[in-house]
Amino acid sequence: MRASDRNLVLTLALATAGVLASSGPAVAAAASAAGATAAATEPGTAASRTVDHTHPGKYGFGMPVTARQIEPWNINVFGDGRNLPPGSGTVMAGHKLFDAQCASCHGAKGEGGMGDRLAGGMGTLTAAKPVLTVGSYWPYAPTLFDYIRRAMPLNAPQSLSNDEVYAVAGYVLFLNGLVKEHDRINAASLKNLKMPNRNGFIEDPRPDVR
Ligand code: HEC
Repeated sequence: MRASDRNLVLTLALATAGVLASSGPAVAAAASAAGATAAATEPGTAASRTVDHTHPGKYGFGMPVTARQIEPWNINVFGDGRNLPPGSGTVMAGHKLFDAQCASCHGAKGEGGMGDRLAGGMGTLTAAKPVLTVGSYWPYAPTLFDYIRRAMPLNAPQSLSNDEVYAVAGYVLFLNGLVKEHDRINAASLKNLKMPNRNGFIEDPRPDVR
């Protein structure tokens, strides 16, 4: 093991032990303890495999992340429709997909089961027992695309294509009476759909939440 490698392993060991942030005699004691560990660490062990010498950078390990590597993680769709992908799906196709992959948990008409109720409840938000659904509660339709693409079906998240997510989101909106049976759903239609509870949320005025 080269001296520089040993320093690095020592640094990693110290960082892992959480002692780099503290100071004084405690650091010295921990450093000699970690030094003993570092000396015993040989190439091929877990600690030395974390060192990537091909990308020295500032700390001598790690590597630049490419746009291509970030892409699959960067799937946020915003309430205003930003980042909705191209593609589309019909409510009819969404109906078939919902029956096959969603109804077992959410009920055939989105009435709920082991999964949340997805439809109805309009006008109940101020009642003693509000019924919170996509239709009664969610302020933005694009969020529905994000949620389904990211998390549903619960047993196989991110298994649907974008077209399928548009289709099944369309069917959930249809179950809430917000689109028509023969509609085709795409980025523009989700973005332009005014959800019943669009204006039901207020900004939190407390200064510490900004
Ligand atoms: C295995 C059961 C299961 C299946 C299948 C399933 N879901 Fe879900 N779904 C859940 C559960 C449980 C939750 C609540 C998750 C939570 O609150 O963390 C949920 C939450 C949701 C929500 C959010 C509801 C809300 O108001 O917060 C939506 C929308 C949704 N599912 C849509 C779908 C769609 C569309 C499909 C089919 C593609 C599907 N789900 C398939 C179990 C399931």
